Amino acid sequence: MPIIFDSEKKIFKLDTANSSYVIEIYDENYLLHLYYGAKIPDYNLKNLKFKGGFASFSPVNINIEDGRFSPDNCTFEYPCEGTGDFRLSAFAVRNADGNNSTDVRYVSHKIYNGKPGIDGLPSLYASDDSDVTTLEILTEDKVTGIQAILYYSVFEKLGAMTRSVKVINNSDKTVEIERIYSTCVDFQTSNYDMITLYGKWSKERNVARRPLAHGRQTASSKRGSSSHHQNPFGAIVANDATEDFGEAYGFNLVYSSNFSFDVEVDQNSGSRVLLGINPDGFGWKLEPGKTFSSPEAVMVYSDKGIGEMSRIFHRLYRKHLIRGKWKDIKRPLLINNWEATGMDFDGDKIVSFAKKAAELGVDMIVMDDGWFGNRFDDRRALGDWQVNEEKLGGPLSYLIERINALGLKFGIWYEPEMISRDSNLYREHPDWCIHVPNREKSIARHQYVIDFSRRDVRDYIYNEMYKVLSVNKVDYLKWDFNRNLSEIGSAGYPADQQKEIAHRFVLGTYEIMDRLTKDFPDMLIENCSGGGGRFDAGMLYYSPQIWTSDNTDPIERLSIQFGTSMCYPANTMGAHVSASRRAGYETKGNVALWGSFGYELDPNRFTEEEQVTIKEQVKEYHKYYDVIHFGDLYRLISPFENHFRAAWMFVSEDKNEALVTSVVMRKPEDRPFFLRLKGLDPEKYYVDEETNEVYSGALLMNAGLCLNEFSLDDGTSFKKYFKSVK
Ligand code: DGJ
Repeated sequence: MPIIFDSEKKIFKLDTANSSYVIEIYDENYLLHLYYGAKIPDYNLKNLKFKGGFASFSPVNINIEDGRFSPDNCTFEYPCEGTGDFRLSAFAVRNADGNNSTDVRYVSHKIYNGKPGIDGLPSLYASDDSDVTTLEILTEDKVTGIQAILYYSVFEKLGAMTRSVKVINNSDKTVEIERIYSTCVDFQTSNYDMITLYGKWSKERNVARRPLAHGRQTASSKRGSSSHHQNPFGAIVANDATEDFGEAYGFNLVYSSNFSFDVEVDQNSGSRVLLGINPDGFGWKLEPGKTFSSPEAVMVYSDKGIGEMSRIFHRLYRKHLIRGKWKDIKRPLLINNWEATGMDFDGDKIVSFAKKAAELGVDMIVMDDGWFGNRFDDRRALGDWQVNEEKLGGPLSYLIERINALGLKFGIWYEPEMISRDSNLYREHPDWCIHVPNREKSIARHQYVIDFSRRDVRDYIYNEMYKVLSVNKVDYLKWDFNRNLSEIGSAGYPADQQKEIAHRFVLGTYEIMDRLTKDFPDMLIENCSGGGGRFDAGMLYYSPQIWTSDNTDPIERLSIQFGTSMCYPANTMGAHVSASRRAGYETKGNVALWGSFGYELDPNRFTEEEQVTIKEQVKEYHKYYDVIHFGDLYRLISPFENHFRAAWMFVSEDKNEALVTSVVMRKPEDRPFFLRLKGLDPEKYYVDEETNEVYSGALLMNAGLCLNEFSLDDGTSFKKYFKSVK
């Protein structure tokens, strides 16, 4: 059993294939965290039990004699605010009498197979109840009657677990939740580095790594979106951990709005790691009898380095987060008109793209922004989701028929969460956007954010979408989101609920996405937010792929894709070949093959020679699809660490197939360079399909593949495909 409770020692132990997580019910029913790390046997667990410890200037619990228990000096499972632990707390409730002193302690627990969902929020799921075991611990604040259920679900085979919290107001008074982190892990030491992903528009998810220092260190968002700027992923890794060696703990929040990943190193050099909704600006009024659920945090442990941590996330998300028809079947190879035309297109132009694309072997054309209302530039018409038939040269169904007749599927662009200042919808309903009374509304890309915290607004937008999608054969929808939230407030809620709006907004977005996936189960949804501004696990629950970045330069894309792969699988990353100039089509194709492949250009502009390359690429896309989409990724040379070249490879689960790619970013030294491969079977022999040369797995991994035969010019690249010899 992956979760056991030793009633005599009062210890819970949660095991995965490679990790153990241990919790103790201590005196006075305090829940203490004892251990998270490499797997340990059940034997002699009492050795881990909290032995007490006095902290000067730290108030102690009067019921635990002899000063051996200071809340400020122990490792808590779910630390509360204002009752003697002065570190960052995970949970704070403003009580009816005005203070926020909070103290939930163990009451009871249950352990069962399977995993419950979370109301209104995306979360990981069990494909089969035997995949996952869940522990629920009921805790209660005896003074206020507030209860918190701590959920732990263990994905035993995969080396991962999830945590979330549900609060129940069991009192007869209304309270306000001020902080509710989804997970908290108190480590005994701080000999770790913290890894986070920072960036901005067009330069998403750079890898930042720094040693922990005393005090607080944070990566967070308060943009009403997970954001380009920080990602709700963070890792704590041993100071000497590398891609292949050392301990790595990965944390990811299944959430698309304001989050905070915090680490506090305390006076005793322990470190507390927290991940959850950003408490900055957050508050939730909880009436008697009502409940509130936190988003889910995913925790992954690896004792084989950072690369293995990423692969665990990838396997987990491919199997237990991505849903629907497009989870396992081949996704269409698409062409999108945005970079080629912007909004300057008509029906004939889209058909001309489709015609050429069909000749090249592309499966689907996506008509991007500009097909509705008076949308000729980005100053207007968001919210007016009526087809502009004049621009398209007839009804949408006619355009789709013409495209389908060429053998192509059809996709469309939407930005449902926005409203243009210059739109019929805004003129009719100026209060339907996120705003606060009497204050100028800040504008971004000439648009406001529509108020999805309100049911009437959501219903209106969804109905408008439904009118288009239910009568037209739309195979794919690109869901865009091109600004962040400011002046966060809603005309639909009273003053004492305004702190709820950012969270209510994202719940509204999730609800619409949920309706879309239910009403149109065959439609593939690709998420986007000015590129990868909402690349998070929450969005992946509804859309199996996300447009990784508006930056399609293949050299820039290397860093973006390497950073994104820290947590998110290759087949979730939208990656297109565009007309960008920094490298030829071969390299652009090799880089885009990493993800959910496509094109973003005018196919009529290809030269004869380029068309031959593109046709070749399309064949490769089909040939390598499985190893890329379902294989294991090994980052061989990171562009964050090497200025000359980047390299990566995919290895099939059975280790019989491998695809290795390397790109020259700057002319490297001329000396012989051997690229050491990873993840192969040392005992197997592999044939290089191109040259027919056979190598042992051991040779490729230990001595490496000599790269000197390949071009060293900037922007060039190569790929090698190996198959095991039976
Ligand atoms: C931003 C997206 O990232 C682009 O791909 C494109 O869809 C534009 N928005 C359209 O406005």
